[in-house]
Amino acid sequence: MYLSTTLIIVALSFFVEAAPRSLRSGFAIPISKRTRLHDANGFIDIAKLQRGVRHSITKYYLGFQAYQQNTGTRHPSAPLVKRSEKRGAGHETIVEPYWYGSIFVGTPPKTFTVNFDTGSSDLFLPSSTCDSSCNGHILYDTSESSTAYDSEAPFVLQYGDGSAVRGTLYTDDVSMGGYAAKNQTFGGATSYADGFTYPGWLPDGLLGLGFPTLSGYGAMPLFHNLVAQGILPTNSFGLCPSELYIGGINDQLYKGDFTYVPVTQEGYWQTNTDGIYLGGQKIAGTTNTIIDSGTAMILGDSKTVQAFYDQIPGSYPTGDGYYSVPCSFDSEISFQFGTSNFTLQPRTFNLGTHSDDPKACVGGIVANDDFGFWILGDVFLENVYTEFDVGNMRIGFALPA
Ligand SMILES: *[C@@H]1O[C@H](CO)[C@@H](O)[C@H](O)[C@H]1NC(C)=O
Ligand SMILES: *[C@@H]1O[C@H](CO)[C@@H](O)[C@H](O)[C@H]1NC(C)=O
Repeated sequence: MYLSTTLIIVALSFFVEAAPRSLRSGFAIPISKRTRLHDANGFIDIAKLQRGVRHSITKYYLGFQAYQQNTGTRHPSAPLVKRSEKRGAGHETIVEPYWYGSIFVGTPPKTFTVNFDTGSSDLFLPSSTCDSSCNGHILYDTSESSTAYDSEAPFVLQYGDGSAVRGTLYTDDVSMGGYAAKNQTFGGATSYADGFTYPGWLPDGLLGLGFPTLSGYGAMPLFHNLVAQGILPTNSFGLCPSELYIGGINDQLYKGDFTYVPVTQEGYWQTNTDGIYLGGQKIAGTTNTIIDSGTAMILGDSKTVQAFYDQIPGSYPTGDGYYSVPCSFDSEISFQFGTSNFTLQPRTFNLGTHSDDPKACVGGIVANDDFGFWILGDVFLENVYTEFDVGNMRIGFALPA
């Protein structure tokens, strides 16, 4: 197993070096996606969903704090007052659905699975010195890697819900999709927040694919390190429900043309939605929006979200920003970017039957007033092929093939 992984990597790196640059060949990392929204009876566990949203929100506060540390200025979209500080009990399992795949760390390379999160910028893995909170995960051990370097600097990612990931910062060679970053800084956790413990959280670690300004370590994130090394055929990555593509986009997995919108604020993958529609009716105009593969739902301000559900007969609020809709609801919900509309398939918006009301289904658009922007998470991203283009500071959307 170990040997074959090494061989694959050797083979991949050989191909990268042998391939002429003009071929524009990036590499694909297959994605596993696990959705754990239902309880044992097949109903949506609304309490779990609410915890998932709370964790996502605390992640944003962490990012804003890092941004301020790194740049000396407040993130323009950061709220002046923390609204969620007192909410959430902590020590809860994160039940966000998540997208994850393999990366390789050290010499010889060891395989780790990581959650691909475009809404943060740091990489952390469980360390061999981790306490029992890392049990069940693959552990990073500096003694197994000839290129490991222990900076002996501590790190803490303190989530606002009371949980934290803490440990030591290391550097080592880290590769993804066949491209290796030398001296990549990452956190080796000596203690995992309950939300990241196995098997509630299947991947070993988390890989942030946001911009350097959000790094809590003040370090260059992995993808930006690859860009800085000038080794990618195209300085972007493509994400769709079946794979993360490093170094461009996979022509086999989308159809039609891409619509591009500029990154309006570096940090998160932030842009503007040019309109939000329900059944052909405009619900919102230009809306500040963040594209986040590490958030399950679509989160929006309560005023607009309420106006949205007001248009759906039989819908009603079920607490903490969630709404129920009749299970038969299938009107077209679309988000306009530039000159294109991208529509949610009903199965991505309709999360499933509500545990308290078998005739009602839970909607995937959730009200939250912590921030002055919308967050488009998996409920949106499952419907598109997305290009995160660092080189041109833009986000592209196309229809999945
Ligand atoms: C890697 O980083 C460490 C610590 O920052 C530094 O001492 C070392 O020289 C770096 N090595 C390379 C090859 O850049
Ligand atoms: C998007 O859809 C809405 C509602 O059907 C429509 O009014 C709008 O013109 C569409 N926008 C584009 C660019 O096609």
